[in-house]
Amino acid sequence: MCGIVGFVGKKEASPILVEGLSKLEYRGYDSAGVAVLKDELIEVIKCKGRLKNLEDKLSEEPIKGSIGIGHTRWATHGEPSDVNSHPHSNKNESISVVHNGIIENYLNIKEWLISKGYEFLSETDTEVIPNLIDYYYNGDLLDAVMRAVSDMEGSYALGVICTKEPDKIVAVRKDSPLIVGVGKEEYFIASDIPAVLNHTREVYLLEDKEFVVLTKTGVEIFDEHKEKVSKDIYHVTWNADAAEKGGYEDFMLKEIHEQPKAIRDTMASRITKGNPISLDKIKLTKEDLENFNRIYIVACGTAYHAGVVGKNIIENLARIPVEVDIASEFRYRNPILDNKTLVMVISQSGETADTLAVLRESKKKGCRVIAITNVVGSSVSREADDVIYTWAGPEIAVASTKAYVTQLVAMYIIALYFAEIKETISKKEIEDIKEELLSLPEKAEKTLEKKEMLQKFAAQNYMHRDMFFLGRGLDYAVSMEGSLKLKEISYIHSEAYAGGELKHGPIALIEKGTVVVSTITQMDLKDKMLSNIKEVVTRGAKILAVTFEGNNDVEKSVDSVIYIPKTLDILSPILSVIPLQLISYYMAKQKGCDVDKPRNLAKSVTVE
Ligand code: M6R
Repeated sequence: MCGIVGFVGKKEASPILVEGLSKLEYRGYDSAGVAVLKDELIEVIKCKGRLKNLEDKLSEEPIKGSIGIGHTRWATHGEPSDVNSHPHSNKNESISVVHNGIIENYLNIKEWLISKGYEFLSETDTEVIPNLIDYYYNGDLLDAVMRAVSDMEGSYALGVICTKEPDKIVAVRKDSPLIVGVGKEEYFIASDIPAVLNHTREVYLLEDKEFVVLTKTGVEIFDEHKEKVSKDIYHVTWNADAAEKGGYEDFMLKEIHEQPKAIRDTMASRITKGNPISLDKIKLTKEDLENFNRIYIVACGTAYHAGVVGKNIIENLARIPVEVDIASEFRYRNPILDNKTLVMVISQSGETADTLAVLRESKKKGCRVIAITNVVGSSVSREADDVIYTWAGPEIAVASTKAYVTQLVAMYIIALYFAEIKETISKKEIEDIKEELLSLPEKAEKTLEKKEMLQKFAAQNYMHRDMFFLGRGLDYAVSMEGSLKLKEISYIHSEAYAGGELKHGPIALIEKGTVVVSTITQMDLKDKMLSNIKEVVTRGAKILAVTFEGNNDVEKSVDSVIYIPKTLDILSPILSVIPLQLISYYMAKQKGCDVDKPRNLAKSVTVE
């Protein structure tokens, strides 16, 4: 949901800002812009469309100066257009602002500012910010920013420059991510770490309502009462290459191929043969678990789908009732929450607004909250009682792939940990599951080898307008994820259905040639699934089945089969999702879609 950057140092700012924005384009790509300060003048260049348009404009009219801010936009208030692009400025262009988030009370502020003689050019909420800062400015930019944000409701990460204090950037965050990069005589702000990694690995992870003043000579951090805050530097251990395509055509394809490693890294040291499961620093006793009468797993999108798998396996292995819900629904349905509820939030970015709101509300009501996230230092990681990191590495493609499989791994680790404590299954069963889990990275590699068949399938079917995904039990959960992947990157309409539910309505949609992808890995449900397949075949559907090696009889009932390595039924989602991801990828490529940056989407949804 928009990416912001800022630079102050001795070098030219604009190439550094553009390079930083290129690492944040995954957060939004409706428009981009930079503002650079030199000789007490701010020059703004901004335009609609991808960053490339801004680069072209900058090569025609380069802007000089060694202090500046930049923005890549995912439009919320106001259509993607030049005028709605950031940075936004006050009338005399002495103050420029980049903003990630939403100012919920902007209309009131705007009306009030208009009554004071201010004028507005854009339809954005952001434009009130430079004007409000202008209103409060009295010789101290930090002070004016502090006063302005105290009038603002909503979420924001802001970078502000001002011609009257031409040596500094003032920045602040609330409910939108912001980090500060600390280099040698150069300092950065950014919405995410990859934007600064080519320059420094030393960063400050800002908390809500922390203000930063960056100059060529250093960084000062203040709390909302203007008291100085001293913070530890976070040293980034991963490499800048992790956020590059590394020879792959797209980030999504690279990330699909990184899954074996991501699965291995997420299990490492937590699952070892013959030892109890280690859940990082989390300590839950048998008593704690018996005290919980319910677990809620809450998340959005793909992370929610990982939660659907989580519910199934925690209930099966640890016999604790689990409810799983979409964060944007959960937070408004007045759920029953108290100190007997364990809440688990799952979020790759750790910044999703609805998920974060659920975390906060649950904590307020006395629940213990465990966060499963991929981003160290993200809001959910800082605010939850306990954190389990998924070690997927940076996920750049908007469509989530490696984050999903690592979220599944986290679910298995938690389920086994609970089962071990509660002794709901035998030690031998636990060891068998662990052993099989440890073999999954290799089996994921083997699954990836099927990509040519999937490419062929995509080439034959990409022109369809609708597709269906069918499964039962865990296969249904994975089908939901397969269907989301397909629609988000290829724009083919698709639906996932539970095999047994089809005849209660959706079967009316099946006609001659309708493509159905059916996952069949739950062996106790296999015959029932084959009957459901018969029902759609009879109505003309074309079926691709994803099933375990050895299930050769499936071939008799379907048009084509993708075999994945045999594993325990309960672990199958980690493997069976891979062909579904590849189908989406190749369908989207066949259609010429931009798989890494699908239309209308952004990687982390930091607005409601
Ligand atoms: O960062 P989060 O895991 O909280 O994001 C949740 C969803 O926005 C995300 O999974 C989204 O559904 C992906 N684009 C799906 O591929």
